[in-house]
Amino acid sequence: MARARAYREAAPSALIVYGVKAFPNVALLRLFAGEGLGADVSTLGELTYARKAGVAGERLIVHGNNKSDEELSAAVASGASLVVLDALDEVERAAAAGVPRVLIRVTPGIDAETHDAIKTGHHGSKFGLPPRQAREAVRLARAAGLDVAGLHVHIGSQLLDTSGVRMTIDWLAAFAAECRVELGWTPEIVNLGGGLGIQYVEDEPAPSPGEFVRALLTELDRAWRRHDLPEPRLVLEPGRSLVGPAAYTLYRVGVVKQASETATYVAVDGGMSDNPRPQLYGARYSALLANRAAEKPAGSFAVCGKHCESGDVMIESVALPEPRRGDLLAVPCTGAYTLGMGSNYNALPRPAAVLAAEGKARLIRRRETVEDVLRLEQG
Ligand code: LLP
Repeated sequence: MARARAYREAAPSALIVYGVKAFPNVALLRLFAGEGLGADVSTLGELTYARKAGVAGERLIVHGNNKSDEELSAAVASGASLVVLDALDEVERAAAAGVPRVLIRVTPGIDAETHDAIKTGHHGSKFGLPPRQAREAVRLARAAGLDVAGLHVHIGSQLLDTSGVRMTIDWLAAFAAECRVELGWTPEIVNLGGGLGIQYVEDEPAPSPGEFVRALLTELDRAWRRHDLPEPRLVLEPGRSLVGPAAYTLYRVGVVKQASETATYVAVDGGMSDNPRPQLYGARYSALLANRAAEKPAGSFAVCGKHCESGDVMIESVALPEPRRGDLLAVPCTGAYTLGMGSNYNALPRPAAVLAAEGKARLIRRRETVEDVLRLEQG
């Protein structure tokens, strides 16, 4: 919750909404709501999590690059304050569904410095509308009677500095100034998405939420003044930077195998089913033996999972004390896009999630059983 407060304190007048996709969890959403945060949802399922947690409609933002009519209607029924339009055909469909207030998602054509799979603001992205179409969307949406409150941009995730976002703000101010000239309209709300990265490994530091937000506010103020635009209301949608560093995944060590002169594998009771990020993004993690954390490293080890693929390697090399069957291997920084992106590959039940604070632990998602994995089978 310290990170939620850091966001709130750095931008007290902004609306901060948690990017639910990072880890959809009702208990967590309730805690964030208690800190004054809302939720950014991108599917009916995520919207249902937010509603179940009692997130107020005025703090709910509905996204999605391919919203179904059911999702648009559910957004209206939930009283979501803003729906972010991502395609021209959503204008009519949102109006027909009774959506009152929208943002237009624009693609600035900025290539964020991060893994290709998690860039979103580049030219040719599947998200948002290129500038000319975005201006057209503003015009059409206003003509359709929608309250077009502002603009949305999100250039990518796991950003390790502020340069891309600052560049985006400058671009957005120029775009808003063009909208003023062409449409006689300026954004009341500017939603800059999420994107702040976290430090997974020692050699990849990340800015703190406070540093990130302050840099962004300074740039927003400067850019908006330069174009003489009215001060906008800011919305931010952090996901990873709120929950990523909060979680450790605990694995039980099983087989320890010297596979070659240079590779000794420590096999754990999970793997790419509870954390597919190493395979998808070449993500790097660190690890420690939680039950022998004070012991000196005995060498470098590879950590692999129990899935039937050679690629199921979570960490290529990490220094550990001599690992033994039964040890507890802790992998830090696994709160975002891990359990939430998990699968049941090899019919493996997914792990539980436990919230620990002030010496107390609380189950916030129970461990799956094999029966859970089989529950959709027929016959
Ligand atoms: N807002 C929008 C519109 C987004 O698309 C996202 C993330 C966020 C906010 C939250 O971004 P964050 O603060 O978490 O960077 N599975 C990938 C990350 C995908 C991010 C998708 N969109 C990964 O594991 O790295």
